[in-house]
Parts: sequence; C-alpha cells; structure tokens
Amino acid sequence: MHRLQCILQAQRCLGWGPLASVSWLLLRACRAHSSFSTTICPSPEGQQEDGVRKDFSSRLATGPAFQHFLRSTSVPPEKLSSPDVVDPPPYLTVDELLGRHRKVYLETYGCQMNVNDTEIAWSILQKSGYLRTDNLQEADVILLVTCSIREKAEQTIWNRLHQLKALKTKRLSSRVPLKVGILGCMAERLKEEILNREKMVDILAGPDAYRDLPRLLAVAESGQQAANVLLSLDETYADVMPVQTSPSATSAFVSIMRGCDNMCSYCIVPFTRGRERSRPVASILEEVRKLSEQGLKEVTLLGQNVNSFRDNSEVQFNSAVSTSLSRGFSANYKTKQGGLRFSHLLDQVSRIDPEMRIRFTSPHPKDFPDEVLQLIHERDNICKQIHLPAQSGSSRVLEAMRRGYSREAYVELIHHIRKSIPGVSLSSDFIAGFCGETEEDHLQTVSLLREVQYNMGFLFAYSMRQKTRAYHRLKDDVLEELSKRSATDLCGRNDGNLKVIFPDVEMEDATDSGLRVRAQPGDYVLVKITSASSQTLRGHVLCRTTLRDSSAHCSLD
Ligand code: 5AD
Ligand code: SF4
Repeated sequence: MHRLQCILQAQRCLGWGPLASVSWLLLRACRAHSSFSTTICPSPEGQQEDGVRKDFSSRLATGPAFQHFLRSTSVPPEKLSSPDVVDPPPYLTVDELLGRHRKVYLETYGCQMNVNDTEIAWSILQKSGYLRTDNLQEADVILLVTCSIREKAEQTIWNRLHQLKALKTKRLSSRVPLKVGILGCMAERLKEEILNREKMVDILAGPDAYRDLPRLLAVAESGQQAANVLLSLDETYADVMPVQTSPSATSAFVSIMRGCDNMCSYCIVPFTRGRERSRPVASILEEVRKLSEQGLKEVTLLGQNVNSFRDNSEVQFNSAVSTSLSRGFSANYKTKQGGLRFSHLLDQVSRIDPEMRIRFTSPHPKDFPDEVLQLIHERDNICKQIHLPAQSGSSRVLEAMRRGYSREAYVELIHHIRKSIPGVSLSSDFIAGFCGETEEDHLQTVSLLREVQYNMGFLFAYSMRQKTRAYHRLKDDVLEELSKRSATDLCGRNDGNLKVIFPDVEMEDATDSGLRVRAQPGDYVLVKITSASSQTLRGHVLCRTTLRDSSAHCSLD
C-alpha cells in the first residue's frame, strides 16, 4: 500500500490529470493482478523470516517498477505500435496483451472527431492482433465511441447498452464471453458511474487512453472491469496512422489537434477532451501525403479549435511572438506564444497535392488572421467554405456564454471574410434556450441568421452539463417545450417521436365538453397535420384530448 501511495504522489508531481482518477486507475490495475498483491502481502504462516525477506527482495527486484505504472503515457510510441515489441505490465503476459483474433465491433456516436478516434482506436487494436467485424452478432468485443455534448447523446448510449445486455447474457456461457467497452467523452465524463450503473460494461477508455486498449481488454478478459480515464497534456496520437474503414473512400479526416482551452460556459468538451494540444506539423504532412498517394481526393483537418493550432514540438518553433487576436475578440486563457500556426500548416498541407481538396473544421471566430483568409482565397484546392460557430446573435447571451466576442465583432468578421474570399460558403452552430435567454435575445439570433444568410446552420437546444461554468453559475431557466420557431407556436412530439409544431391558440377541451383551453405542458392535443419538412411536422390544433380518445379519433379518420 505504501508503494502505491508513492506512485500516486509521483504522478501528481508530474502534473497529470486529477488525482482521484489516477488512483482509481491504478487500484483497478492492481486488483486485477493477483501476483502483484502477493508481492506486497505478508507471507504465509510458518515460513522462515529470513527466507521471507529474501523471497520478498528477489520478487521485489523482479516486480513492477515505477515506469510500469507510467507506461500508458510514457512508453515510446514506436514500441507500443507493434505487438511483437510490446512490453507487458508485470501482471500480464505478451500473449494476454494480444487480441488472439478476437473480433471487434466498433460503433461511433457524435462528431467527426469521434469518427477519427474510432479509426485511431481500431489502428491500435489491429496492431495488437484483433480483427474487425461489422456483424454485431459475431463480435467478441463491442466498443462504443461516445459523445457527451448534450444529454440526449448520452441517453442514446444508455439505451444502446440496454439492448446490448441481452446479447451479452446470451454469450455468458460461450467459450469467449462478450466484452463491452465505453470509449471517449462519456467514459471521461462519468468515469466509474458507468461501471456502477451498468455492470455489463467491462472497460472504459477516455479520449487520451486508446493506446491502453489492449491492456484494458486483457484485464477485462480475466473477468475484472478495467478503466483508464487519464487525460494527457501531450497525447495527439501523432504516430498512429488511422485505418480507413472504407477502402473505396474518397475523403478522410486528419486530426491536427485535440482538446480545447476556450471554456465556453455551456461546453463539456474541455472537461472530456482536456487541454488543447497540437500534433506536430511533420506528422500531419506525412499522413496527408500518404492519403494523397492512396488517391484520396479530399481531407478535412479536424480539431475542436483548428485555427488555434500551434505546433510547439521543436525549440526552433518557439519565438517570443505572442498571438494577436482579431479586433473585438478575446480569449479566456493567457496569451500563448510562438509555435507553427494554422496558416503555416494550411499552406504546407495545400501544397502536397493540387488535386486534393482541403477543408477544416471547426474553427473559432477569434483566430482568423488575414494570412489564413488569404490562403483560402489564393489556393484552388482549399475549399472556399468556413464553418464559423456563432452560437447566438445576442451580445448579452454571447457574454454569458463566454465566447469572447460581441454580435458586432462577429458580423464585422463575416464582412471581412466575404470581402477576402468572394463567394465563400458560410455555416454556423447555434444554441437556443441558453440560461437567461429572452425572446428578444432569440429574435436577435434569428436576425443574425437572416443577416448572414448562411449556407447551412446546425441548431441545438441548450443542454445543461455538469462541471461547466453555466452549471455552477447560471440558471437553466428557459422552458424548451415552447417552440422556438415562433413566440406564438407550441411544440410537441407525436407517437412516432416526430416534432410537431402548431399555433398556440384556444381550442375545445374534449375531456371536459364545452370548455375552451390553451395547451399546457403535458397535455395531449389532437393536431391536424398540414405540412412537413425533413425534421418536423406542422399543423393546427383541433382539441385537447386523452390518449385513449385520441386513438378513437385516429381510427375514425
Ligand atoms: N448544449 C447544446 N449545444 C451545445 N453545443 C456545445 N455544448 C452544448 C450544450 N451544452 C453545441 C455548440 C457547438 C456544437 C458542436 O455543439 O453549438 O458548436
Ligand atoms: Fe466547446 Fe467552446 Fe471549445 Fe467549442 S470552443 S469545444 S464550444 S469550449
């Protein structure tokens, strides 16, 4: 126990993630390994003390050393990338670390970063001797690459786990019992809560722990739950070549940075994906070159904040020049200095293959220097398309969101971009119903949408996330059931779970004849559908009803 304490302290000194998750990781690793505990336990009764001491010292000498506990983040990447040189931890053999042709089924939820993470995780497992299957029924290992950005995304995973439970129970008596793992943001956010709530989950791996997957699966093989949710300051998986899932693919994602330092007040990402760090330019260029040689026609440079890219991996990149933000923009962190910036990377990437299109997502409006705009304008193969998340059109809400700009600064940037890149396509993300947002704020967002005339918009209902600043400091006081499309509309869901929008007007109350009422949250109302879009139905309301009466109405139709 004493030794374990020392290791924990050493890790804290190294400036790793939260102590709680470190100790939890190590405790699980130790518990899963009986020979480790015999090394530090008192020897059986009746043994000669001298012999005991000798045995103890010799076993200690061959037992786990300090570096064994650091290996998940400190083993040189070239060692980990090949199964035949893997140095197993003392409680596992090389054989146990190998996949032994177990079949892995990977399922991806959420953003494009997760698509890329899936390829990274698979690349690591493939090198460890696992096989991939796209048939759930024949899988030995099911891994869900998860998203935590909104409550709904997590609910989808809980529902999926319930479905998988039956599959797992069926396989309990088989020679190779089914193992289920949660990877990515949800593993990082909820940690042991997942293992406690769903006993059928065998492994958890946070976004910075994919290199550890072979070890976690080997521990799970012995019937233990295993987890690694350490966040890293420097993991970029630079040396892990993602494996393209579709051999006929014409486009690919290339991860250029991970994590986010922006700390927008609503966002869970800085807590699940950790601090911002950029992948070295040289390794990005190497990957893009390979993709070009494979004949791919399009790469999208990926990251939470691509234009905050800053490669500090070599001393000569580190000048004392600090970054100046565009006029009207500020950052929630201390000014950063030096490093190779996004414009340099974009320049280099676009020179690799003039017939290969380059896109990037997502940028933050605060980091748009003229050099980047100039490059997009000049180079034929850089797509004239910018995704520029605004989140709100109200300066008051933007301040509460801690976005670091006002509506005016954002609009000025849009004009500047349009002038610098004629014909540019613009898209954006918006959040509706943020803490304290009024109808007036919302109308400002609608007016921004009209003013900018985006080519595409991604609109999200605000979802409160624990740990965020909004969770701690602001009140989630906007009722989402009120349709945001119009102050006079209401929104509900039909039996088929489709969104139905209808005017908020008085109607007959069929449950209490003669009465005229307005619909309240929780009421069942009968709506005659008059039009439909790809996402929603629209109609006018006929009467307030009950479930039983409404089915009678429907069968009459
Ligand atoms: N609730 C709703 N939407 C959110 N986003 C991020 N956090 C939240 C949240 N808590 C949206 C933002 C971001 C996109 C990826 O997801 O619009 O740009
Ligand atoms: Fe979240 Fe803001 Fe970072 Fe985007 S920039 S990932 S919204 S914290």
